[in-house]
Amino acid sequence: MHFYLDPGGKLTGRIRVPGDKSMSHRSIMLGSIAEGRTTVSGFLEGEDALATLASFRDMGVQITDPDAGELTIEGVGLRGLEPPKQVMDVGNSGTSIRLMMGLLAGQSFDSVLTGDQSLLRRPMARVITPLSQMGALISSHEGCPPLEIQGGRALTGIHYDLPVASAQVKSSVLLAGLFASGRTSLTEPAPTRDHTERMLTGFGYGVACDNGVISLEGGGKLTGADIDIPADISSAAFFMVGASIAPGSDLTLEHVGINPTRDGVITILRAMGADIQIHNERQVGGEPVADLRIRHAPLTGIDIPIEAVPLAIDELPAVLIAAACADGVTVLRGAEELRVKESDRIASMAEGLSQLGIENRVQPDGIEVVGGEMTGGVITTHHDHRIAMSFAMAALRASDRIKVSDCAHVATSFPGFAALAVQTGLRLEAAEE
Ligand code: S3P
Repeated sequence: MHFYLDPGGKLTGRIRVPGDKSMSHRSIMLGSIAEGRTTVSGFLEGEDALATLASFRDMGVQITDPDAGELTIEGVGLRGLEPPKQVMDVGNSGTSIRLMMGLLAGQSFDSVLTGDQSLLRRPMARVITPLSQMGALISSHEGCPPLEIQGGRALTGIHYDLPVASAQVKSSVLLAGLFASGRTSLTEPAPTRDHTERMLTGFGYGVACDNGVISLEGGGKLTGADIDIPADISSAAFFMVGASIAPGSDLTLEHVGINPTRDGVITILRAMGADIQIHNERQVGGEPVADLRIRHAPLTGIDIPIEAVPLAIDELPAVLIAAACADGVTVLRGAEELRVKESDRIASMAEGLSQLGIENRVQPDGIEVVGGEMTGGVITTHHDHRIAMSFAMAALRASDRIKVSDCAHVATSFPGFAALAVQTGLRLEAAEE
């Protein structure tokens, strides 16, 4: 499936983008090992979160089919999962595989996790290393999936200083810590999304955070809860950029999660001159939520503050489209993690920006983008959903047609993207050929 985009247009109206991907995964995982019933609303019915859902069903958990984002989980308790009948294939989803490794390392049964071609290339040693220190036995194919996780291992709590700022590694260690004896604690080189810590607390499981040390005691109990998942700021980011770059735009994004460990995109775009207003800020299920109103504004290139990088890690491809439309140079550094996402996002963005005539200089840990006039062109997504949606927004400022090839992976995180984009004003047609 490809996106064909006519140039120009503006984004207007009020929309709600689908539910947060990170929280959707965690709601299934924690709801499954809780005692009693969990109800979830706002669940993201995208392929990644559905892969997590299918895996927990494979392990005997009763989960209703999501209906307009609502589902019910009959939790089986910390020791109630059953051996899966088959290899669990989580498709494109790094969050599923890395978090589930931690959870499966403490089970009594063996399990195997695998995924698609992209996932088979992604690094897992960063998770295997701390889990092995806890006593887990996990074999990989040169540090990549498929992963064989041996059951029946007695895990022991450890202290781990994370070498990379990764919420997936942090969460995996914390989930293993639920099944370990004693205390599991860790530090991060920079703050990353804290949904695991918040949601564990919501399920009644004590998680401490003292002077940057996050810790929990193993062997406790999670109690079923009602989880209300806000709209995903990572999906909202494409529309934030689109409305910022397209003259005449005035768009409101409703009920967006603005957790301070996720709001780097707002900080960065505002520093570039974007007009983003935060309205109706409120707390929903332990997470801050707001409506965001974005109006077109002239943007200026900036040096992206390094501390904002982990807080905007999934939104950086979209930010680079804003950079292409800004006056001057935008410098992104300290973002080497982008090289090990669903594609090498530094290389994918550099290639696409060059296709559209935007000068850029690639660095090992980032990229410099020189704002300018965008032409039309053909974009290769490298099967990466966020590359596809970022370049779809570029059409708002391009001088000619853009074809974004191979967009099927958009469904991993943002089912309905094309329809919502058209509704707001993007001149997009999704077609097979
Ligand atoms: C995620 C953490 C981030 C992010 C991913 C979701 C999570 O990955 O890129 O899309 O839900 O914990 P890293 O932990 O690899 O940075």
